[in-house]
Amino acid sequence: MDKYLVLGNPIGHSLSPSIHKMFAQQTNVQMIYDKQLVPLDEFNNCVDEFVEKGVKGFNVTLPFKGEAFAKTASVDGNAAVSMAVNTIKVDEESKLRGFNTDGIGLVRDLIDRLGLILPNSRILVLGAGGAARGIIGSLLGNLPSRIVIANRTVAKAEKLVSLFRDSNQRVPLGWTNLKSLNDDFDLIINTTSVGLEGKFDLIDEQVVRNKICYDLSYGVNAVFVSWARNCGASKATDGLGMLVEQAAESFFIWHGIRPKTQHVFDLLRSSH
Ligand code: ATR
Repeated sequence: MDKYLVLGNPIGHSLSPSIHKMFAQQTNVQMIYDKQLVPLDEFNNCVDEFVEKGVKGFNVTLPFKGEAFAKTASVDGNAAVSMAVNTIKVDEESKLRGFNTDGIGLVRDLIDRLGLILPNSRILVLGAGGAARGIIGSLLGNLPSRIVIANRTVAKAEKLVSLFRDSNQRVPLGWTNLKSLNDDFDLIINTTSVGLEGKFDLIDEQVVRNKICYDLSYGVNAVFVSWARNCGASKATDGLGMLVEQAAESFFIWHGIRPKTQHVFDLLRSSH
């Protein structure tokens, strides 16, 4: 049976094996999908070893998405622009093809599950690290009226903007710090890792009041969601739907079948 792995460090709490097993059951695809803890300096060797053993594909999570980008022989447009790979397909000649499905996953969740209309919307992205880099391209592709990236370290936001300005001529893209934000956004997306420390205090309450808020983290880590609700956000959602949708896109890349996601999402929601 074909084998697939999700590689990360840490990897213990990954939901990817459960999600892919449910997709496989639903679509009658025969496969094995496991999680694999990879020592921090062993990513390259690990991938080589598993390819040698016949593994057909990998999902890659923190902190290896950049290394996965460097490791793959060819990449799709989303991976190229974000310089990060979260899905690897091993082809017939054992060459590694890299993809990034994070941005597609986010946009599908925003549009299909939350019912948002992205064209002409005003989007604020909090954070300018790898997670932000993975989603900006897909957001731009949906033609919002503008995107602003706000970050504690403003120089990193500016750098991210310059990275995407080259490939994007149509959507105004700006940067700022976290403290001089006004309230003229429709959608606020948190990509920072601040929730992981248990509280959220990065921006003023008025920025999110009556706005739609989204956190790329999910479950207990999505502290931004409860904070935004308390501040009067009109809707605040964690990234569980994005996780399921990015997995569905990986599943499609490997197996050529697009699984249905709502039932899987509902099952996971009941326990996360
Ligand atoms: P990831 O790959 O998950 O995005 P990262 O590249 O380390 O991780 O980026 C983490 C993001 O969270 C950055 O935008 C970081 O801001 P800085 O660029 O200023 O470091 C942000 N972040 C993390 N801890 C923060 C904190 N305590 N206050 C404000 N921003 C924080």
